[in-house]
Amino acid sequence: MCYGPDAGDPRLRRNMAEWLTRFYNPADPVSEDRICISGGASQNLACLLQDFTDPVFTRNVWIVAPAYMLAFRIFEDAGFHKKLRAVPEDDQGIDMQYLRTQIRKSEDKAKSQNNNEPQFKLSRPSNKIYKHVIYAVPAFSNPSSKTMSLRRREELVRLAREYDALIITDDVYDFLQWPSSLSPSTLSIETAGLPRIVDVDRYLDGGAERHGADGFGNAASNGSFSKIFGPGLRTGWLEGTPKLAYGVSQTGSSRSGGSPSQLTACFVAETLEIGELQRYVYDTLQPAYGSRYRRMVETINKHLTPLGVLTPQTDREVVGGYFIWLTLPSPLKGLVVAQRAKEEENLAVAQGEMFEVPGDTEHEGTSFSNDIRVCFAWEDEAMLAEGIERLAAVIGRMLIEEADGGQPTRRATAKEEDAKNLW
Ligand SMILES: Cc1ncc(COP(=O)(O)O)c(C=O)c1O
Repeated sequence: MCYGPDAGDPRLRRNMAEWLTRFYNPADPVSEDRICISGGASQNLACLLQDFTDPVFTRNVWIVAPAYMLAFRIFEDAGFHKKLRAVPEDDQGIDMQYLRTQIRKSEDKAKSQNNNEPQFKLSRPSNKIYKHVIYAVPAFSNPSSKTMSLRRREELVRLAREYDALIITDDVYDFLQWPSSLSPSTLSIETAGLPRIVDVDRYLDGGAERHGADGFGNAASNGSFSKIFGPGLRTGWLEGTPKLAYGVSQTGSSRSGGSPSQLTACFVAETLEIGELQRYVYDTLQPAYGSRYRRMVETINKHLTPLGVLTPQTDREVVGGYFIWLTLPSPLKGLVVAQRAKEEENLAVAQGEMFEVPGDTEHEGTSFSNDIRVCFAWEDEAMLAEGIERLAAVIGRMLIEEADGGQPTRRATAKEEDAKNLW
């Protein structure tokens, strides 16, 4: 019986290393030994936690909030349900001062509890147990669509080195970018505007291997083919120092027969080798998503902005991802807007609370009851524009009701109309 190598299909590792080198343009090529094939970003987040954390010794998981909600369960499954901590995003992507203060407090607590060594994880040459995990989506984030500045990326790497933290980033939207201009001069962009945090760690202050993480570095980048090829592939890649990438390949479930997604990895390797996937991203996905994004923004400007709805980080030259984050005019609540949008207009929008870190909404910058997330990636442009107009109708009605002291003016739902017709 033939399985496959622990680190995944060598051809995919090689082809991906080449594409990443072209896209991020680091000072040295991305070498194959920095890459390990994964079952996608979610699966590999679970592997990273298995390999590099201990639910007791690892003090906290610090999550930039609003956060990708499906990651919460993965952290909880790894034993961190009481240790999840939210860190507010600021205009530059993360409130570093808050994070630093809280990590210090967390360290004081660990000291007072003599929390000095891993309790449940074996020490092996292929792994290292970190004291902290920091989780972020630094480019075109899900859900806020914010991008973390280079300055913050550097500050974060320095902080991680100081406090023995592993920064895990889902870099899953980086390839989905386009100019923010509503009349762009180009429809696609074939290189990244910023280095990933894993690239920053590779070079900052002499590089990852020179700083006290035993050669494992302090950053792990989760890439995924879900957004650029197809989510059903369940295939992605991890980039980190060669030691970290090797460590992930030695997760128990991969040592038992090799990396996940071996078969689909072969298909993806083929499309990269002939350049088809790259062309699909640059010639099809970027222009299509960019055009949907522009249509949605135009409609937001026309119908939602006059109602007092705000959008963050609107001054960026390059935008991307799948989502737009909207802050509602006071006193409207995201949950009620989402419910009424569904009932009255058959619209799916996500209320901000879905993206709150479970158990930690203490800081006012980490609770999102006044926000909603809308997605422009799925529907075609005309539907997106109509959707925003219908959302504006819901919000408009709610604002009138508020002004009238809470009298409902909502339109009857389809169900209620049917019921009326029965009589
Ligand atoms: C931030 C983020 N990470 C991970 C994923 C899922 O990636 P994968 O399908 O590779 O597990 C998503 C998909 O929505 C996402 O938005």
